[in-house]
Amino acid sequence: MKKITEKLELVLDVKAQIAEGPFWDQKEQKLYWVDILEKTINIFNPASSENEIMQLEKMIGALIPAENGKLLAALEDGLYLIDPETLEPEFLVNPDPNTDQTRFNDGKCDRRGRFWVGTMDLEENRPLGALYCLDQELDLTEKLNEVKISNGLAWSLDNKMMYYIDSPTRKVFAFDYDLETAQITNKSVIIEIPEAEGVPDGMTIDAQGKLWIAHFGGAQVSRWNPETGEKIARVELPVSNVTSCAFGGENLDQLYITTASVGLSEEEKNEQPLAGGIFRYQAGVRGSAAQKFKINRKS
Ligand code: BGC
Ligand code: CA
Repeated sequence: MKKITEKLELVLDVKAQIAEGPFWDQKEQKLYWVDILEKTINIFNPASSENEIMQLEKMIGALIPAENGKLLAALEDGLYLIDPETLEPEFLVNPDPNTDQTRFNDGKCDRRGRFWVGTMDLEENRPLGALYCLDQELDLTEKLNEVKISNGLAWSLDNKMMYYIDSPTRKVFAFDYDLETAQITNKSVIIEIPEAEGVPDGMTIDAQGKLWIAHFGGAQVSRWNPETGEKIARVELPVSNVTSCAFGGENLDQLYITTASVGLSEEEKNEQPLAGGIFRYQAGVRGSAAQKFKINRKS
């Protein structure tokens, strides 16, 4: 553990290529995260500072624990349920017609336990990606297409809005959300990140309904009021590629922040020795609890 400022500390100095997808398991008091390019699932226990690593054979864009004890994983070529004991992957579905040009990226569950996950162009600029929703019965629906890099997702506390990031657009979009049907309608732009502050990547929402957004290439996590589009605060990081964040800790008031070393030159890596580390920020506000995948097989 290394203190950076009064409120920010480095909890894991792992120099990950792309640490991503932090998910706090409140019952276990552990943080799940993935390194997309190293193809690993990680489970960090803050009480012991131990980080358990599970090595996969494919890139992993997102991981959400399922309520039945399995791990729902978006691997480079589709969605799988992984047995955490044997690491045996059970293939569910691959909706993506561009598998050799795209991969799965960020994903998260809405408060009914449906899994929303998107894909991205491997070259990061063509609109080859999409956003999908996997429901509890394992039926998959395409929700958006022509996405470049599908990234952060969050839902308002009343579940009436869904917030969504397509990174290269530098915009955060809002949709009206119907929690009963998972319909998204009325797309609008609520936030635009200035070019000098990188691109928006992962995000989460706190118990006051404010968004926390990781800036890839922008060395910060910023806090916003999604209703007014006003930036309320920012947390500066000693590394430029900040990928995602999630609330954790007993009181859900610690913001875990993942970062990446990928894309940095040798010189930048020397200047940012903590790149790819996992950080923790004493946020002073509580987060909204993470939702596991609810699975309800038909057969
Ligand atoms: C992707 C990276 C990408 C970054 C910034 C991440 O979610 O995994 O490959 O460079 O977003 O857009
Ligand atoms: Ca991301």
